[in-house]
Amino acid sequence: MDKPPLMKVAVVGATGMVGGVMLKVLEERNFPVGELLPVASERSAGRTVRFKGEDVPVMDMETAISKRPDIALFSAGGGTSFEWAPRFAEVGCTVIDNSSAWRMYPDKKLVVPEINGHLLTAEDRIIANPNCSTIQMVLALAPLHKAYGVERVIVSTYQSVTGTGMKAVKQMENEREGVEGEMAYPFRIDRNVIPRCDVFTENGYTKEEMKLVHETKKILDPNVRVTATAVRVPVTGGHSEAVNVEFAKEFELEVVRELLRKAPGIKLLDEPTKDEYPMPLVANGRDEVFVGRLRRDETQPRTLNLWIVADNLRKGAATNAVQIAELLVAKEMIARPRVAVR
Ligand code: A2P
Repeated sequence: MDKPPLMKVAVVGATGMVGGVMLKVLEERNFPVGELLPVASERSAGRTVRFKGEDVPVMDMETAISKRPDIALFSAGGGTSFEWAPRFAEVGCTVIDNSSAWRMYPDKKLVVPEINGHLLTAEDRIIANPNCSTIQMVLALAPLHKAYGVERVIVSTYQSVTGTGMKAVKQMENEREGVEGEMAYPFRIDRNVIPRCDVFTENGYTKEEMKLVHETKKILDPNVRVTATAVRVPVTGGHSEAVNVEFAKEFELEVVRELLRKAPGIKLLDEPTKDEYPMPLVANGRDEVFVGRLRRDETQPRTLNLWIVADNLRKGAATNAVQIAELLVAKEMIARPRVAVR
């Protein structure tokens, strides 16, 4: 098979938590990077990032745009994406955006490659990467939805501080060392659990909880009803989720296990008697979504309990974004149309 052409790849937010993992994943998966354009804020002027054994200088947005990248992976916050992704798209670049800025726009695709990668076309200039908690949940639910029809989901999350960014990891480290420092959360996180991820919305839920509701509908099926409680825990390495799923059809636990065993991107870890179940310690640094603790909900028919864990910086963010880029390359969908976009 012919080698894919080498790409000019911008990583926007390259000095951040997700950006750093994006660089690592691009390198590990041998993505055809001809030139890397790492972008960060003015605060990082003069800094370098490490890529394929070299120190690559960080640049600002305008410099990166002037180099007309083929692909840009964005992870620098929603406001930054909202303002800058269209500017990259205007010069013919395909943007894969990890923020929430574009996810719910009807004309923007919200993509988990294993589930709906087939929707991508060469016309897509800004493609949204779903929220980390959503990705790991829908990846596990997709094969079960196909088989039994998911009707309702109750999910409680136990989310890693890495999902908030570097400031939050530093806060937890400072607290463990007894050092005063900047706070990412309104409370201490070490030796605590905070039932709030992202900001509160008018209905009393947080934005993170509502992302799980809306994004699941957009990716899986608008008829799936979801209710969520999102919680920050003093953990690095991955997000965990306790998920209760009510199906339209009756299921056999063994068939559910077999479906998950065969599903791409899923690793079934369900041997409770041997103490084998997913944990952030297991998922840390891995690309798979780990599923275990499968049990029938004995309080009502057609209902399953499961436990889902994934490295939120990997499949929940960087790996999913790079997989989208790989799909675009494989389908020869990276183009330079030179047209203005909305
Ligand atoms: P910088 O390091 O210069 O602040 P995290 O989520 O781990 O805190 O990382 C956020 C990333 O987004 C960092 O790389 C940060 O760069 C980058 N970033 C934040 N705001 C901007 C901006 N306005 N323009 C470019 N990059 C930004």
